[in-house]
Amino acid sequence: MNILIVGSGGREHAMAWKIKQSPKLNQLFIAPGNAGTALLGTNLPVGVSDFSGLKRVVLDNQIDLVLVGPEVPLCEGLHDFFSSDEQLKNIRFVGPYRLGAQLEGSKDFAKEFMMRHQIPTAKYLAVTAGNLQEGLAFLKTMNAPYVLKADGLAAGKGVLIINDLQEAEESLREMLGGQFGSASSKVVIEEFLSGIECSVFAITDGNDYKILPVAKDYKRIGEGDTGLNTGGMGAISPVSFADETFMKKVEDRIIRPTVEGLKKDQISYNGFIFFGLISCSGEPMVIEYNVRMGDPETEAVMLRVKSDFVDLLLGAAEGTLGEKHIEIDSRTAVTVMLVSGGYPGPYEKGKVISGLAQITTSIVFHAGTVQKGPDVCTDGGRVLAISSYGETMKEALDLSYKNAQSLSFEGLYYRKDLGFDL
Ligand code: AMP
Ligand code: GLY
Repeated sequence: MNILIVGSGGREHAMAWKIKQSPKLNQLFIAPGNAGTALLGTNLPVGVSDFSGLKRVVLDNQIDLVLVGPEVPLCEGLHDFFSSDEQLKNIRFVGPYRLGAQLEGSKDFAKEFMMRHQIPTAKYLAVTAGNLQEGLAFLKTMNAPYVLKADGLAAGKGVLIINDLQEAEESLREMLGGQFGSASSKVVIEEFLSGIECSVFAITDGNDYKILPVAKDYKRIGEGDTGLNTGGMGAISPVSFADETFMKKVEDRIIRPTVEGLKKDQISYNGFIFFGLISCSGEPMVIEYNVRMGDPETEAVMLRVKSDFVDLLLGAAEGTLGEKHIEIDSRTAVTVMLVSGGYPGPYEKGKVISGLAQITTSIVFHAGTVQKGPDVCTDGGRVLAISSYGETMKEALDLSYKNAQSLSFEGLYYRKDLGFDL
């Protein structure tokens, strides 16, 4: 079959790498892709929100299955667009409709969903300009630190954690006043949870689900989890504290109730559910839902999926996931993200990357790269994800770090302490 992956990051390159191994694949296309995905399939110059452009390439290339990487086109209703188009409605599609995508697109929607289905999460209140006074009063009932979240999509920047009450009150007013545009016209105030985080992924057809390997990502730019938040500086799978006992709680209290809850609410859903969890003294709580795979978690998780990934995608798209099996590699997989100097602040693009051809013992996924004539150049903040297997976490990390040393571009930076907390 012909498959189209929508997206252009390391997550999409890792999915392309896994899909490429499937005997079910005929031709692979990526829109828009990057210099790495071009080595595995055909990049098509169409943006992820260009619905009519995507329709054209799907029809032109006889695509049988569409897999969406990022959340934005899902929240914008790409699946709804496909299912309401005569020419596209029979094409298999992996990713939720606009309504289900609200689990990520609206924090308030997600919190109401969790309350309705008794899924463990932090106490909260949703505040708009209309109930600001109630919001300020709610803040006074909470203990520091105060967690304020823009309701809508804010490219991972919409969460503020503030120590001082007065500052939190001020921030609440600023957010409602448009600090994150319309994304913060509603703000969710949340109880602060303390613990260690992990990312759990399930693929579902709306009825059955399969759990993918659990991972931990490292969001802060600096070592020891300090400095600004980034899209993710690396990931490790499995996660030592997410043992069988913990994962059973996650499945019983969170995953199954979520899939059942979607059914009860008559929210037709297929694709991935990403549970951003925090372990509070061994008890899993939901920090957030995402309606896609994680990045950079996917660059580690794909290495551990032994089964045919296309078969799982077909199960999700066709409603036959219950008949499928998922086999997981027992080895550890890690990914180390190489980023541009200055990231997550302002950084320059277009730096020539050297050393790619020398790497044979890690898998290099491209996150933000572009081919310019004979050169592969940097084209984003996160540039390359160096993924490795190991019998232990240390062995896998050592390999990625060794290979990272043979790569260079001006300003290259990476964290050298991944796994320090495990
Ligand atoms: P989110 O965008 O909801 O994933 O939030 C970004 C990050 O903020 C999370 O990965 C957590 O590290 C932190 N965070 C969010 N909500 C809470 C909370 N209720 N308690 C503690 N930390 C939180
Ligand atoms: N790595 C976190 C995310 O993809 O949102």
